[in-house]
Amino acid sequence: MKREEALNILKKYVRDDKILKHCIATGAIMRKLASELKEDVDRWEVIGILHDIDYEIVNRDMNRHGVEGEKILLEEGVDEEIARIVGRHNYHLIEGGIESYNTPVEIALQCADNLSGLIVACALVKGRKLSEVSVNTIRKKFKEKSFAAGSKRENIMLVENLNIPLERAFELALEGMLEVKDELGLE
Ligand SMILES: [Fe+2]
Repeated sequence: MKREEALNILKKYVRDDKILKHCIATGAIMRKLASELKEDVDRWEVIGILHDIDYEIVNRDMNRHGVEGEKILLEEGVDEEIARIVGRHNYHLIEGGIESYNTPVEIALQCADNLSGLIVACALVKGRKLSEVSVNTIRKKFKEKSFAAGSKRENIMLVENLNIPLERAFELALEGMLEVKDELGLE
């Protein structure tokens, strides 16, 4: 599946610009993590783009988040493995929580999903200028627990289980998001 196709499917179910941008950012980070691990970059980006497809449909019901997304993707004819990964990404519903993710793609998705929000928040502090965010900025803000508190630090740190140091993940994520900064409405 191509990036464009994934975006088209996403836009059928998600209207909120903020969520669309979050999905694009998560996809961009997934692409970089895939490249670092010599995995399929297009496929990982698509997974990032599609991961919150049910966000508006479940309307904050975290007991349905992911489950509904999996159903939608299967109906849309997206391959089963991608649908399953999306279905399992809501760690609140996974027995054993975040520690139970053991495939690289699922671990990377936890990292990308949470790191995207942290980096967007960093850009907002810099007057929407993503180009002024550095790895240093991200490192500092990562340590400030009250900053972008919704970005779960433990989920981001899972990336180290893939032998990617946290600092390297910051660098990759920033590079990835810079590549799509126009789509993210950032400078
Ligand atoms: Fe997400």
